[in-house]
Amino acid sequence: MPGFEIFGDEERKQVNDVLETGVLFRYGFDGARKGHWKAKTFETELARRVGVEYAHLCASGTAALSTAMAACGVGAGDEVIVPPFTFVATIESVLMAGAVPVFAEIDETLCLSPEGLEAALTPATKAVIPVHMCGAMARIDEIKHICDKKELILLEDACQSLGASYKGQALGGFGKAGCFSFDPVKTITCGEGGAVVTNDREVYIAVDAYADHGHDHIGNDRGAEDHLIIGANYRISELNAAVGVAQLRKLDWILETQRRNKAAIKAAMQAIPGVDFRHLPDPDGDSATFLSFFMPDVASARQAVKALAAAGVDGCFHWFDNNWHYIRNWNHLQAMQASARLAVQTLANCPDYSVISMPRSDAIMQRAISMQIKLGWSEDQLEQRIDNTVNTLKSI
Ligand SMILES: Cc1ncc(COP(=O)(O)O)c(C=O)c1O
Repeated sequence: MPGFEIFGDEERKQVNDVLETGVLFRYGFDGARKGHWKAKTFETELARRVGVEYAHLCASGTAALSTAMAACGVGAGDEVIVPPFTFVATIESVLMAGAVPVFAEIDETLCLSPEGLEAALTPATKAVIPVHMCGAMARIDEIKHICDKKELILLEDACQSLGASYKGQALGGFGKAGCFSFDPVKTITCGEGGAVVTNDREVYIAVDAYADHGHDHIGNDRGAEDHLIIGANYRISELNAAVGVAQLRKLDWILETQRRNKAAIKAAMQAIPGVDFRHLPDPDGDSATFLSFFMPDVASARQAVKALAAAGVDGCFHWFDNNWHYIRNWNHLQAMQASARLAVQTLANCPDYSVISMPRSDAIMQRAISMQIKLGWSEDQLEQRIDNTVNTLKSI
């Protein structure tokens, strides 16, 4: 995902503002910072962009997930429903909360399915984390409906989907809280960073406190502040936030460019026999960071990624064989290899992750390929890519 492709004078200017004041801390030093509040500015603009009341920056998307979970009251022994196709950070944050990840099947949206969610519910289910993978949406209205009906906490992992929406509402804004990542390979990046967004004032206050050792941030004497809860240090620095301010202001252009590039490739691929596309519940809301498609079976998918790479079509991922994003190759999780005993391992209901079976998700992921969409392609490069893609896939 492309934020890093477009660093320019805007990012340099924002960072220089911070360096010139010498105030790298997001709180306090009111005089010395000469009016530069990069984290606060980024939060205000992000909340407006997502269409929510509150946004709070964290040190990473993983930190944002941990913070959101703590603020929503998810903790020891609570079952949290998660999809098997995500970045492993989603699962880590559940484990770090002392909660129990319960895997549920995905569908052709490449995200948690409402049917999978229903099948995984137990009396101990406390929360559900749909992950809006590869720039686009889960069937979030149906998932929200189930969560509302069953009084479950809906927490959206929108780390990969800034700028995407479902029927006009930005992803991340449906749940009790939503999380974003601004790590080096996200739609916009600030080096390392993340955010929690919410419309719930109590959740926001808990997020704000948890990410900074429980501080209530009332007044401007940090030493005299009260501590609302036991927290952690998941703060972002002003330097990172400064880069994020410049990047967020480029988001419209990023989305427009991605959508144009993706539409051209997808249109040319429509006529390839045997190739089908990821289901998008709202195609207009796709952020278009990836073009995800299905080959007829696992053998042709494996053949296709190899042949595409050989033909110079880079950035095509067959997640089934990739060890970052699909449960099949998370050997460390299956064996629960941790540096020390995890809270979940002390629980009577700790699942045996070495025997988790996800037949429906396997059948989908075996056939799925995601092609990265870049911003920097020239017209010629795009044309060449389209030709190479179509010719390669037709030959399989
Ligand atoms: C779906 C998902 N969740 C969470 C994260 C974690 O974000 P970060 O790398 O900022 O900790 C990522 C990052 O790749 C992700 O893709």
